[in-house]
Formats: sequence, structure tokens, C-alpha cells
Amino acid sequence: MNILITGGSSGLGKSIVEMAAKENHTVYFTYRNHKENADSICSQYSNSISLNCDFANSKNLKEFLNKIPDFNLDVLVNNAYSGITLGQHFHKTSITEFQEAFQNNILPLISITQKCLETFRKKKSGKIITVLTSALVGTPPMGYSVYAATKAYIAQLVKSWSREYIKLGITSNAVAPDFMETALTEETNDFVKDQIKDGNPLKNILTTDEVAKVVMNLMDASPQLNGVIIPVNAGINIL
Ligand SMILES: NC(=O)c1ccc[n+]([C@@H]2O[C@H](COP(=O)([O-])OP(=O)(O)OC[C@H]3O[C@@H](n4cnc5c(N)ncnc54)[C@H](OP(=O)(O)O)[C@@H]3O)[C@@H](O)[C@H]2O)c1
Repeated sequence: MNILITGGSSGLGKSIVEMAAKENHTVYFTYRNHKENADSICSQYSNSISLNCDFANSKNLKEFLNKIPDFNLDVLVNNAYSGITLGQHFHKTSITEFQEAFQNNILPLISITQKCLETFRKKKSGKIITVLTSALVGTPPMGYSVYAATKAYIAQLVKSWSREYIKLGITSNAVAPDFMETALTEETNDFVKDQIKDGNPLKNILTTDEVAKVVMNLMDASPQLNGVIIPVNAGINIL
């Protein structure tokens, strides 16, 4: 299969890129800053192709969008996230922070998905897999209003896509992982990590490889599996 993974240079995206490359798929992945990570993945897997794009830069994004039809894609994994998870209490959060989260995450994800749908609609098949968060399960942690609201907006898109394109054999599903140790969460202190570990029924912190395996299963799944959001959190709660 031809697969595009956004934000494949680190964390969860890197795990997905590596697993897909090991299965001999052709793997296109984007990165923003970490060229050295991207180069190292490409030198290890000759079937992986890195593309530099900062989704917050409209010219950059447009150039990237123009390349997508050439990839003849079968799968899109919407994984990249621009910004931070833990912010301030809602009343201290500026309007600009909400605007930036929308501008840098939701709008690029919409443009990329629309562009991939051009290929999927022609092929009458395709899989859209989107990375959400278990912060959507129950009540989000304190300071998560921007992050959780951004992901909640995307969760609704995931469901709309599943409704609108299934007749063309195109599915849309998502994963909603619990906390993983990545660059996005590197400022989390040990006390909070211990609490997360303690709250997990398996007494483990979820790894990016564990979530990547769920994403790989979604790539292989029958189109009968559509419109689902899979929490990956050892069943702490249900979505
Ligand atoms: N870590 C967690 O606890 C957790 C839990 C649930 C869900 N998630 C979700 O998992 C996904 C991956 O996150 P992660 O934890 O693996 O974080 P990460 O290691 O920081 O990876 C984020 C990726 O997104 C790319 N990126 C960031 N800003 C970008 C921008 N403006 N334009 C283009 N690409 C950009 C980064 O590229 P560069 O590194 O090259 O800059 C990187 O490849 C996100 O959707 C996140 O919300 C994470």
C-alpha cells in the first residue's frame, strides 16, 4: 500500500512509519524540524520517503498539497500535532491560542484530507486514520481546554467522513491513545507520570509502538470497520 503519515519524524508517527516500512509498504511521511530523525529513518528504510512541511506555513503547506496526487495513496494517517497539550486554565488562555490551534492543526488536517480524498474517490477505496486523544474520554485534565477542544473538533470530522465516503469504499476511523512519553509530553514531571502509571490498570505507561500496532490493524481492517474511535488506554474508561 501507499501510505502517508503526517508528523512521522518522532513519537507515535515515527513508530507508525517504521512498522509500515517493515511491512514493505511505500511510506511517505512529513516532518517539520527534525530533519536528522527523518534522514535516519529514510537511510534505514529505502521504501520510506520524507517530506519537509511546516503546516503553520501556508506556502509550505500548499507546495506539499500539490505533491499528494503523485503518491497514489491508499492510506492517510492524520497524526501530526502542532502546539502543546498542557496549557493554562481556560480563563487564562488567550483567544490567540485557540485561533493558532485551529489554524495550525484543524485547517491543515482538513486540506490534507480533502487532497487525499481526490485520490481515494478515484480509486473507490482508501483509509483515513486519525490520531485523537484519550483526553476526549470523560472530562479532560486541567489545562487541556485548547488541546481537547481541538481534538474534539477533529473527532467530529472523523465521524462525518465515515458517513460521507463509505459508499465509495473509503473508511474513516481513529485511535484515542492515553499518555505516551514523546516530545509532545516531555515537560510532564515524574509525579504526574507516576500518577498516570498508577491509574492505568496494567500499571504501565502506554508506548508509541503499542498504539502504532492498533493503527496498523486499522490499515488492514475490512471496510466494515468504519466510523469508530478506538480508545487505547487499557480500558480505563470508554469513549
Ligand atoms: N504523547 C501523548 O501522550 C499523546 C497522547 C494521545 C495522543 N497523542 C497524539 O499523538 C500524535 C503524535 O504526537 P506525539 O506525542 O508523537 O508527538 P511528537 O513526538 O511531538 O510528534 C509530533 C509530530 O508532528 C510534527 N509537527 C509538529 N508541529 C508541526 C507543524 N507545525 N507542521 C508539521 N508537522 C508538525 C512533528 O515534526 P518535527 O518533530 O519534525 O517538528 C512530529 O513529527 C498527536 O496527534 C498527538 O495529539 C499524543
